[in-house]
Amino acid sequence: MDVLQALTDARLVPVVVLDDAADADPLAAALVAGGLPVAEVTFRTSAAEDAIRAMSARGDILVGAGTVLTAEQVDRAVDAGASYVVSPGLSRAVAERCRERGVLPLPGAVTATEIQAALELGLDTVKFFPAGTSGGAPAIKALAAPFGGVRFVPTGGIGPKNLREYLDIPAVAAVGGSWMVPKNLVAAGDFAEVTRLTTDAVALAAGA
Ligand code: 3PG
Repeated sequence: MDVLQALTDARLVPVVVLDDAADADPLAAALVAGGLPVAEVTFRTSAAEDAIRAMSARGDILVGAGTVLTAEQVDRAVDAGASYVVSPGLSRAVAERCRERGVLPLPGAVTATEIQAALELGLDTVKFFPAGTSGGAPAIKALAAPFGGVRFVPTGGIGPKNLREYLDIPAVAAVGGSWMVPKNLVAAGDFAEVTRLTTDAVALAAGA
């Protein structure tokens, strides 16, 4: 499977922070029901590995790991079933382990120098993070001019109000964000509301 193509087709990457891995399965079901069979489960909590395992076992959702900072976390994520690995910044060790394990790395890069460093590692798709405080959509447009082959996945500070600004840029592959999966809703078990937020986001991304 071409994971980058699947993320590009989905246009949205919900960024999930789970305190309890028991929420992983119903959350995945809620995203799938909303028409978005994609999740990035962040390694910010100890539940991440079990959550990735539970989601990937379903077989109906493309699961990646987020906030991956070390090669060891790459191994744990991939062993749990992650098929892509997102990092807030650019790490040679993470990129190389991803290559060894055959998963797509999405390293953070927001400056021309960081993008050149990613290109030197053979990576032409980067997470533009934190998007809102790094110049937002205008910064991506400006960087896309010299870096014609680079694709961006802006994340951080994006929601229904500014989603289209980013998705309308040809160099943007997909947009990441947590607005579809708010922690408080997940903790409260309000998965119906997650599905509603997801359905709305998918409609907005489709240009409706
Ligand atoms: C991330 O880890 O990618 C961000 O925390 C998500 O940013 P958001 O919460 O502003 O969508």
